[in-house]
Amino acid sequence: MPITTSKIDCITNNKDSSPCIIHCEDKDVALDDALNWVTHEANNLLASATDHGAVLLRDFPVKSAEDFDAIVSALNLPNFPYEKSLSNAVRVNRTPRVFSANEAPPEVQIFFHHEMAQTPLYPRWIFFSCEVAAEEGGATPICRSDLLFERLQADRPDFVQACEQRGLRYTNVMPSDNDAKSGMGRSWKSTLGVNGHSAAEKRLRDLDYTWEWLDGDCLRATTPALPAVAQLDDGRRVFFNQLIAAFRGWKDARNDPSKSIRHGDGSPLDVEAVKHAVTISEALAFDLLWKKGDVVILDNMVSMHARRTFTGTRKVLASLACVETNCFNANSPRN
Ligand code: FE2
Repeated sequence: MPITTSKIDCITNNKDSSPCIIHCEDKDVALDDALNWVTHEANNLLASATDHGAVLLRDFPVKSAEDFDAIVSALNLPNFPYEKSLSNAVRVNRTPRVFSANEAPPEVQIFFHHEMAQTPLYPRWIFFSCEVAAEEGGATPICRSDLLFERLQADRPDFVQACEQRGLRYTNVMPSDNDAKSGMGRSWKSTLGVNGHSAAEKRLRDLDYTWEWLDGDCLRATTPALPAVAQLDDGRRVFFNQLIAAFRGWKDARNDPSKSIRHGDGSPLDVEAVKHAVTISEALAFDLLWKKGDVVILDNMVSMHARRTFTGTRKVLASLACVETNCFNANSPRN
């Protein structure tokens, strides 16, 4: 291939959350050559992301949202459009498959989560690219959920069993219009892709959610019981849920973290065990410090991600993909 790279760091021994880092060594490589290389290496890149949780492409010729879109497109995966998702974050599309990662202000920390695991519809793959690195802070921590699962099962087997048997049920309150001050400020109209109450209620009924209309035209919605643990094709089990983010971070003018998550049967969580899961996730965390032009390929079934607070301007773009041709096939929503 007309591009040289060095695999410098797939040395995790499967014991931590370090991504596999691949440097592009050709300083003047053309984007088209990089795209050809990505297409040629697509299966290897995705397999590495599954093995290690994530792959970081550094010093590749990615200078714009359009370049990032082209790199993601070169992997030949079906797009998972943000506007069709049930994500609770406010985002702005930059290209058909690239959007801002989260519009929440710099002082808002976003805690570990698997993307959209609090909904029945979530992507298998998530891609990030750094457009502007923060002056200070702004890392994207990554945490391997297979490793978290192993440690949590060893330390708190009763809690893991409760999560496996009962699943998790999430509750959040959505505003009538987008609230960009919150990490979970997406309006119910945008989230559900509707304009009025009756269409919203139909969508919620189809999704098997329960709901309640609140003052200020806010909507409280509760998911059905969703699985808290998943199994990968290679047999690894992963703590695939939104437990930590919901427990620590679902906090804004409308939401109270103590009311955001319960087991699927309505029973409360073991708070000490949840705090222990938080401690393990921070011990396993790898803080990815961004360099402009970085691209990350993350297997959303393997790794959680988060966002540290920062100062200055930080622009990280994101894109989502699934594994099958129809991301929103009602019979296979969990892909
Ligand atoms: Fe996220």
